[in-house]
Amino acid sequence: MKVGIDRIAFSTPNRYLDLVDLAHARGVDPNKYLIGIGQSKMAVPTLSQDIVAMGANAAQEVLKGLSDDEKSLIGLLIVATESGVDQSKASALFVHELLNLTASMRTIEIKEACYAGTAGLQLAADFVRAHAGAKALVIAADIARYGLGSGGEVTQGAGAVAMMVSANPHILSLEEHSVVLSRSTDDFWRPNYSTEACAKGKYSEQVYLEMFAQVWREAKSLGLTSVGDLQALLFHIPFSKMGRKGLRSLESMIPPADYERLTARFEKAIVYGREVGNLYTASLYLSLISLLEQDDSLRANDRIGLFSYGSGSVAELFFGTLQSGYNDRLNRAGHEAMLAARQRLSMSEYESIFSDSLVVDGSRQDIEDGDPAAPHALSRIEGHERFYR
Ligand code: CAA
Repeated sequence: MKVGIDRIAFSTPNRYLDLVDLAHARGVDPNKYLIGIGQSKMAVPTLSQDIVAMGANAAQEVLKGLSDDEKSLIGLLIVATESGVDQSKASALFVHELLNLTASMRTIEIKEACYAGTAGLQLAADFVRAHAGAKALVIAADIARYGLGSGGEVTQGAGAVAMMVSANPHILSLEEHSVVLSRSTDDFWRPNYSTEACAKGKYSEQVYLEMFAQVWREAKSLGLTSVGDLQALLFHIPFSKMGRKGLRSLESMIPPADYERLTARFEKAIVYGREVGNLYTASLYLSLISLLEQDDSLRANDRIGLFSYGSGSVAELFFGTLQSGYNDRLNRAGHEAMLAARQRLSMSEYESIFSDSLVVDGSRQDIEDGDPAAPHALSRIEGHERFYR
């Protein structure tokens, strides 16, 4: 039975910072950000645009057009995030209510830095294989925060990708055999008391590349990476240069024609990510959407490799095959319009939004709606509880 991604969509805040403005403000040559890091803009969320709101907004698009009977087949909702809103209650339960999903289902949140989206997708695929007729909704949603003036500042971003996983998927059928690797490292982490991530920047790049090399070698020895078969290779994209380094590490190992093809497709796969920045758990899947919507040369039955990396660290190299008619399930015009309609922030507006915070004393805080046109937003907190519209 084929199992995989049947529907996919993304959501990102309606404001961004141009990285040329950031470079000028930080006294850096803009080409360091545009070429050295490989990013152009980063999405900036307001307080109302937390991971629940962004995740529900992405999922709303995925559910569009589904009948109540079809929705009732969703037996599992997973929110994968590094930026959860509670230590105990799963953010997925807020999303569950906002989406008005059936009560008879499992609703959970999972964490392993940027890898959690892939953990969610693979768990969902196993769930669908084990439960005939059932579907699963996987949401990867994150706000990447490193702090004003920090080394990681240019690699911030925010957004969510939602995926419906089902049998006989319309977009990407997932192969059951993948290569996974776990290894405890301290390359990037966020202590419970901190709203900003800690990163050993260069070390994190090194671990990313080491783990990619290891899963690639293993996949090759298992005969999974016959590159002639591989029409595209996607990477976790904390910033596009990181994925490019991963791809470049293959240059001397694969035939030039294959390397050229994978490089051409890589350029299409980073179009959206360059505009919104790091989405942690969702970055790989935003790259998938970007590839499918921006590349006109892919065809049904093309095989795609996906490299997922989450600091801490877990890596997985897995594969999927494009399904006929996958184009009909995409929303290129809608996604491009969403990006084009965003408001460009000045540096002072960005720094002011970045410094906003929620009260922590239990008092009431009414939260200004950052995007009244979006279906969902955090509207208030009171008595330490969160309320959404
Ligand atoms: N023109 C063109 N390129 C320039 C330039 C210029 N004027 N000036 C500098 N550059 C290039 C540098 O040569 C360098 O290129 P290479 O990486 O190819 O050598 C690049 O710009 C970056 O410059 P630096 O080496 O000076 O790096 P930095 O000190 O600014 O730090 C960073 C970069 C480590 C990525 C930092 O932004 C960071 O810590 N980011 C957060 C951590 C992160 O994203 N790690 C990725 C792996 S971990 C992961 O993937 C999980 C996750 O999502 C967090």
